[in-house]
Amino acid sequence: MLVTEQERLRDDIASWAQDIGSDRSALIPILQEIQGKYGHISDFAMQIVADKLGIHPVEVYSVVSFYSFLEFKPAGRFVIRLCRTIACDMLGKDKVATQLENDLGIEFGETTPDGKFTLEWANCMGMCDQGPALLVNDRVFTRVTPDKVTQILEACRKAFGIYALGSIGEGHL
Ligand code: FES
Repeated sequence: MLVTEQERLRDDIASWAQDIGSDRSALIPILQEIQGKYGHISDFAMQIVADKLGIHPVEVYSVVSFYSFLEFKPAGRFVIRLCRTIACDMLGKDKVATQLENDLGIEFGETTPDGKFTLEWANCMGMCDQGPALLVNDRVFTRVTPDKVTQILEACRKAFGIYALGSIGEGHL
């Protein structure tokens, strides 16, 4: 990261801390702001947040690792999370996973070279009777099949905007 980017990050965190607060309760809101603006939470950002809030960096790290919507690495424009918990597993998540990997040319935990898609596992998201369940950013799709994966990815590629996904049935949009 360039020095100027570090300075920008430091200034942003100082400004968010001023608006939101600089005690422990501000930790998640500030991390969300960083995620929203920078797309991930770098080691440097975690250190600055820890200093600002007067907490140990390990505490910041453990919060970032606990919440799936916070990323350590730069993520793609579309973050796709497939539930791997038992109900979705029994309802065919393996076929959906294979379709995702084949279609995107990456494995889970990776981002496509064009920066459009990141593929991640998720744990139960409460749609167990309608699995396999899939999240695309903050939108849930249920009863996902390999064919539906193709439609979802096609909509993402065409629009480069999540709103096109509204035309695909059964997603909770
Ligand atoms: S097991 Fe997949 S949503 Fe609950």
